[in-house]
Amino acid sequence: MRKIAHLPNHVAVVPDGNGRWAKQQGLPRLVGHLAGAKNMRLVVEYLNEYSIKHMTLYGFSTENWSRPEDEVEGLFHLLEKFIDQDVPEFHKRGIRLRHLGRLGELPPSLQQAMNRAVELTKNNTGMTLSLAFNYGGRAEILDAVHHLIADSISPQDIDEKLFNSYLYTAGLPDVDLLIRTGDELRLSNFLIWQTAYSEYYFTKVLWPDFGKREIEKALLSYSQRQRRFGGL
Ligand code: IPE
Ligand code: MG
Repeated sequence: MRKIAHLPNHVAVVPDGNGRWAKQQGLPRLVGHLAGAKNMRLVVEYLNEYSIKHMTLYGFSTENWSRPEDEVEGLFHLLEKFIDQDVPEFHKRGIRLRHLGRLGELPPSLQQAMNRAVELTKNNTGMTLSLAFNYGGRAEILDAVHHLIADSISPQDIDEKLFNSYLYTAGLPDVDLLIRTGDELRLSNFLIWQTAYSEYYFTKVLWPDFGKREIEKALLSYSQRQRRFGGL
């Protein structure tokens, strides 16, 4: 494990490139997603070894529903499996699970698995692993606005702190480092409010190949940057 001077407190990840990874090997896309799910575990555990306090993973966006039905179902199935197989191990390591997004629109068995994982790990004090699943940044902001209005909050009481507390990410700090694999240079509706001052790290490496050395490179790149938050 490489020593790194300034580590981020909150790392968010857009794991992209599963489909291309599979295609390169002449395999079905779902095999790529399976390799991607396996890699998630590795990355979670490696960031946890670095004692990074918050990690947020973009697993399924509100726009991913437009993919073929069998791929969508495959992704749901994989997440359920990921939760059932990997969460007990995460629990042992003190990791706390959280869900970000519209849970109610997902298949009931997946909702239950997610709720069980959150419940099981709710008192853990290690890393918080947030799974953004059926998540959209604009949907999140709209949901927050709807709740503010439903709670009859007056305009003068709405500041950034209060608004934050109405987001799915309530209680989480802003993202310090956003990593996107798979050679796409965009945010794709992920944490659009929370990444306003994040550092971005883009790499051509496809998600299933984003291993320990790649993580170290991303952390090192972050640690060498100077953050000014609009100041001098
Ligand atoms: C990202 O891989 C995984 C999810 C969206 C769940 P893709 O499925 O987008 O892979 P590419 O971009 O087609 O290679
Ligand atoms: Mg993609």
